[in-house]
Amino acid sequence: MDATPDSPGAGHGAAPITVEHVGKVYPDGTVAVGDLSLEVRAGELAVLIGPSGCGKSTVLRMLNRLVEPSKGRILLDGQDIAERDPVELRRRIGYVIQDVGLFPHQTIRTNVGTVPRLRGADRKQIRARADELLEMVGLDPARHGDRYPHELSGGQRQRVGVARALAADPVVLLMDEPFSAVDPIVRGRLQEEFLRLQAAVRKTIVLVTHDIDEAVRLGDRIAVLAEGGRLLQYAPPAEVLSAPASEAVARFVGADRGIRRLAVTRLRDALRPLAGTEDIERLPSVADSGTMYDALAAMLTGDALNVVVTTDGQPIGTVSRSAIFAPPDGQPRDRHAGVSADAAAAAQRGDADDPSDEQAVRGPLAGGPKRPEQ
Ligand SMILES: Nc1ncnc2c1ncn2[C@@H]1O[C@H](COP(=O)(O)OP(=O)(O)OP(=O)(O)O)[C@@H](O)[C@H]1O
Ligand SMILES: [Mg+2]
Repeated sequence: MDATPDSPGAGHGAAPITVEHVGKVYPDGTVAVGDLSLEVRAGELAVLIGPSGCGKSTVLRMLNRLVEPSKGRILLDGQDIAERDPVELRRRIGYVIQDVGLFPHQTIRTNVGTVPRLRGADRKQIRARADELLEMVGLDPARHGDRYPHELSGGQRQRVGVARALAADPVVLLMDEPFSAVDPIVRGRLQEEFLRLQAAVRKTIVLVTHDIDEAVRLGDRIAVLAEGGRLLQYAPPAEVLSAPASEAVARFVGADRGIRRLAVTRLRDALRPLAGTEDIERLPSVADSGTMYDALAAMLTGDALNVVVTTDGQPIGTVSRSAIFAPPDGQPRDRHAGVSADAAAAAQRGDADDPSDEQAVRGPLAGGPKRPEQ
């Protein structure tokens, strides 16, 4: 098999993952995963999504050998993980689970330093690294470092979980529903922070979620799974939303997928330069790092037909409601019947003929760019 290409700007030491015809039958005969093949490029964030019991966690746990596959093989950086020492392997792979799994009787700082300590790093180094990582995930080491897990909120604990996973300087990060234990507002914030963090560190990440919005927001590619780990589609979010591979995928991503697609469509491409005649003061504004979704939300909230787009608070142009709904250049409205917003968005990007254009997906999302700007 060809080497998996790195995604652009893959972080230091990030490794590609290749899953080849992997299956898992548990001892009681349950076929958790039938035959799954997929690749995750170095520095890419792949999301596994699918109904409860479809085998997502099993796939994740096979990637760090917490569960041994019944068949097939998994390559990490081109090397079969079955040939590696499982303990050493797990130290190279960060693993974040829903309830975080912090050690309750250890301080936050000690928790974060777990793997470096196991590797025999010296105390000063461990402390410095732990503090650096706590800051990175938005926790103040001076305030939170000496606390115990029960003295933090659920969202803060999840950040500690991410910091601890990153402390190992992992080649891969596995995350099993890492943001599900917190309320939607905190979850949104954590997702934003996480996107920013990922833009900086560019690890290879496999993230499991139930939440299609989370998948669309975070994923470079989304693997939609059905029962028995059957792969229904594996594609960038915009493609899954605009061209679901089957009825089952369409049902799974929801009837409102057109709106979801707006959230992965860049605002910049629909921008109209300022004419000087707009009443800028009275229009709602959105930052140019936002998406068409943000623009529409601002228009609806502000009961306006246009929004002002700003860079660092300075107006740079406007986006109109009609730019969201109807392409002004008379291009065909929609290649994918029933998803009119997609066509408008695609036309605005000037790539209506190529819905799989990676740029469309790589665009920044509300509040935090998925990719650093070139
Ligand atoms: N240790 C086990 N022994 C037997 N069956 C298991 C075991 N672990 C998981 N299973 C079964 O394997 C299937 C896949 O489980 P898995 O935990 O991978 O699903 P999941 O997609 O992560 O589900 P959820 O979204 O609910 O977390 C399920 O039918 C589950 O009951
Ligand atoms: Mg699970």
